[in-house]
Amino acid sequence: TTGAVTYDPGFMNTANTESAITYIDGAEGILRYRGYPIEQLAENSSFQEVTYLLIYGELPTAQQLDDFDSLTRRHTLLNEELKNFFGGFPRDAHPMPVLSSAVSALSTYYPDSLDPFDPDQVERSTYRLLAKLPTIAAYAYKKSVGQPMLYPDNSLDLVGNFLRGCFGVPAEPYEVDPDIVKALDTLLILHADHEQNCSTSTVRMVGSSQANLFASVSAGVNALYGPAHGGANEAVLNMLKEIQAEGTSPEDFMEKVKNKESGVRLMGFGHRVYKNYDPRARIVKGLADDLLHKFGGDDELFDIAQRLEQKALEDDYFVERKLYPNVDFYTGLLYKAMGFPEKMFTVLFALGRLPGWIAQWREMNAQGPTKIGRPRQLYIGESKRDYPGA
Ligand code: SDX
Repeated sequence: TTGAVTYDPGFMNTANTESAITYIDGAEGILRYRGYPIEQLAENSSFQEVTYLLIYGELPTAQQLDDFDSLTRRHTLLNEELKNFFGGFPRDAHPMPVLSSAVSALSTYYPDSLDPFDPDQVERSTYRLLAKLPTIAAYAYKKSVGQPMLYPDNSLDLVGNFLRGCFGVPAEPYEVDPDIVKALDTLLILHADHEQNCSTSTVRMVGSSQANLFASVSAGVNALYGPAHGGANEAVLNMLKEIQAEGTSPEDFMEKVKNKESGVRLMGFGHRVYKNYDPRARIVKGLADDLLHKFGGDDELFDIAQRLEQKALEDDYFVERKLYPNVDFYTGLLYKAMGFPEKMFTVLFALGRLPGWIAQWREMNAQGPTKIGRPRQLYIGESKRDYPGA
């Protein structure tokens, strides 16, 4: 009967997928990609190697990695007609809708890469998307700053090509800063997969209808855009800048959060799964400690962030709710110090998450068509009633 039934909204949290890609222990703050601890991968691997690991299940040999890298580099160029696509957006368009639109549009150029159950077509769509997303992201950024787009330079690796695509200009030579390349490469590793999060579940849900990889990932990009998910890294920086501009002490801000004033949330804190420190946040904070000052980052905002964290780790309100910093809390400070504006932060999250989306979509389709996703509901609406006069 209506109203007499309660249900746990967390039912969306139930395990409804088997996967061999990523393991998370939320209570212990553990994250492993194909069994390898995230700390070891962040310290010793590269984003390309982790991409290979997530998609193919094993670390590549040196030759396999070299072949994989050169193959993805060869696909960085966008079809010239797709390049014109960007001209249709308003200049101040947020890059995330540009990204999801362009990714979806890729499916119109590659009819030979759309069949989710043809291994050759799956490989082609994989390489094309891995190589072209950074180009699309760089073009979206150039569009937003009114600068000419740069064709990719395949003598550079994926991260270097992306940085040049964003910050290079035709009139000047561009030298990639190896420290920034290394830091960004590590940040991309940290974002590469995270089991069945909102955007990955979206990719799987859309893919379960036998939609192609481009359409499925485009949906994932849109899911990631939300401030409760990947959009949080942008929301964190806006929160820190607001605290700084208002001259509010971090401690007083935290009182507002505790009083739940006008929906104030501590962006970059909390997690559906981690009820311990997000292991990725610990690594990002370490990078911020080491590099922020060197990159000319905003020490005052970093200080505000650290005071917010300190307060959260001490105050019962946050401790009882197991609210710890998540991956989004410190990343924005590093992205800003690298020269990216806030509205590119979630795009950087998408660049990192792409291998995970692809790996999870391929895993779902590996044995042929899977059952279409079809969550059920608990009906809590009106009981049967007749139309007047019926
Ligand atoms: C990502 O799933 C993934 O793996 C995601 C991700 C990935 O790699 O894909 O890790 C990336 O999306 C990280 C999360 C980024 N989002 C944010 O930082 C936004 C701020 N965080 C919150 O919106 C929230 O913590 C969530 C959405 C992340 C998780 O919410 P939960 O676990 O569903 O928590 P809840 O909403 O049930 O809240 C439990 C309690 C509530 O208090 P009471 O109502 O019981 O008094 O904790 C409070 C909430 O009010 N709470 C917060 C809070 N998050 C939860 N209070 C203040 N600030 C917060 N951030």
